[in-house]
Amino acid sequence: MHLLLYVALSLIPASAQPQLPPELFSPLIPQKLLATAELVQGIPTSYPQYTTRDTGVWLFLPADTWTSGFLPATFYALAERAAICPCSMDGTTSAQWLQIARSSATGEMPLETRTNVGHDVGFLSFPFVDELAFDPHNETALHAVEMFAAALAARFNPVVGCTRSWDTPDPTDFQVIIDNMMTIDVLFSAADLTGNDTLRQIAVSHADKTMMNNVRPDGSSIQVVDYNATTGAVIARHTKQGYSNSSTWSRGQAWGIHGFSKMHRRTGLSRYLDTARRMAGYFLDNIPEDGTIPWDFNAPTVPPRPADTSAAMIAADGLLLLAQQEQSISPSNQSGASYYFNQATRILRDTTNAFWAPAWQSLLSNGTVNNPASPPNNQTGIIYGDYYFIKIGNDLVKLGIAECQ
Ligand SMILES: *[C@@H]1O[C@H](CO)[C@@H](O)[C@H](O)[C@H]1NC(C)=O
Ligand SMILES: *[C@@H]1O[C@H](CO)[C@@H](O)[C@H](O)[C@H]1NC(C)=O
Ligand SMILES: *[C@@H]1O[C@H](CO)[C@@H](O)[C@H](O)[C@H]1NC(C)=O
Ligand SMILES: *[C@@H]1O[C@H](CO)[C@@H](O)[C@H](O)[C@H]1NC(C)=O
Ligand SMILES: *[C@@H]1O[C@H](CO)[C@@H](O)[C@H](O)[C@H]1NC(C)=O
Ligand SMILES: *[C@@H]1O[C@H](CO)[C@@H](O)[C@H](O)[C@H]1NC(C)=O
Ligand SMILES: *[C@@H]1O[C@H](CO)[C@@H](O)[C@H](O)[C@H]1NC(C)=O
Repeated sequence: MHLLLYVALSLIPASAQPQLPPELFSPLIPQKLLATAELVQGIPTSYPQYTTRDTGVWLFLPADTWTSGFLPATFYALAERAAICPCSMDGTTSAQWLQIARSSATGEMPLETRTNVGHDVGFLSFPFVDELAFDPHNETALHAVEMFAAALAARFNPVVGCTRSWDTPDPTDFQVIIDNMMTIDVLFSAADLTGNDTLRQIAVSHADKTMMNNVRPDGSSIQVVDYNATTGAVIARHTKQGYSNSSTWSRGQAWGIHGFSKMHRRTGLSRYLDTARRMAGYFLDNIPEDGTIPWDFNAPTVPPRPADTSAAMIAADGLLLLAQQEQSISPSNQSGASYYFNQATRILRDTTNAFWAPAWQSLLSNGTVNNPASPPNNQTGIIYGDYYFIKIGNDLVKLGIAECQ
């Protein structure tokens, strides 16, 4: 098996390393995920996305939904964990998880060529990118990554300079959301496989326009920017999942930290590092005293605003990636790296202490899927929150920072 190589954050003295929550390597992780695997046997036609409120039972959505890749990707992450942390896996093996991962990904296969998820093909590609880390010659996975990338590239408009995030009734209304910063990575994955540089150029153009128009001068973010598809002009800035057009939706902010850090890793261009730092700065400056990440940083606090543990986990994993970017520059920025590493583990610790949910099917509670929806969808477990919780554990072990238990 081929593991991504990380540079250990070796200059952080052991005494200065903050405590990690013991739940990070809990046997409940393989136990719960094995039980969830039982629910998606055969060729899955639906995948869990979030749980019932207050009782934590998974709800399933059709395969052609933006979140369908997260459960198979979680199984791939557990195949990796069983290889690097065998003692934490309650007797399960990497081979067993790999088989579950491969089987559960089959339900996504028809979506390579006919999907209705728009830019979210980038999220659907996650398990296939993961498969290639285990078997670089798996033809199904190679084909899937190339097809998902081609589908995203086909949404690029050179006048706007972006890939279209969502389809709209008026095709000249071209919407670009901050979430799309996560999905352009499939363009680099496919370019690495095929050598097609057009895919990289599309990703760079998209990131540049997002940096310019979805990120505010103070480092906060706007979820949706509407461009005129014919003229390329910005015609509106608003929100779909946040509290208001001028507020900052925390999960969007977290996608931005992660996405721009990844852009820096992919290109080495300093403007992306700068943008990731600014977005991280806003996120960290706005965490309340109690350490709970709210669903929107500007939502009213009376009645209490719901938390979003998925935003917390995406931000924490993004901050780990940002810490590695600080290390990768020349000369290496060790103080910046330690700072982001400490902030990532602080968010992880505070979130786990408050919202670890032993009795639920999900690992964490208190996620917010969409609070402006009617009815509001809050206080649930969320598949992508759990995915990043597990990924953070793996990343910390690979960085040489965490021990498996
Ligand atoms: C977390 O969710 C529970 C219900 O599952 C709720 O009682 C509690 O108030 C929530 N906590 C926060 C900080 O939102
Ligand atoms: C190749 O990867 C796909 C997608 O994960 C999986 O369904 C399939 O079983 C894999 N094939 C082999 C031979 O491992
Ligand atoms: C590279 O990718 C773009 C976008 O999908 C596509 O239009 C073009 O045909 C590809 N080029 C080659 C040589 O395959
Ligand atoms: C975009 O601009 C064209 C040409 O000026 C105009 O016809 C069209 O209505 C505009 N679309 C939107 C959504 O503003
Ligand atoms: C938010 O922006 C949208 C799109 O421009 C607009 O339709 C809506 O009225 C705005 N909401 C408020 C409260 O200004
Ligand atoms: C190191 O990182 C911190 C945090 O991002 C930043 O403020 C500082 O300017 C960086 N230092 C250098 C020399 O790049
Ligand atoms: C959380 O969701 C519930 C159920 O939809 C809703 O009644 C409540 O108003 C929401 N909480 C807030 C503060 O928006």
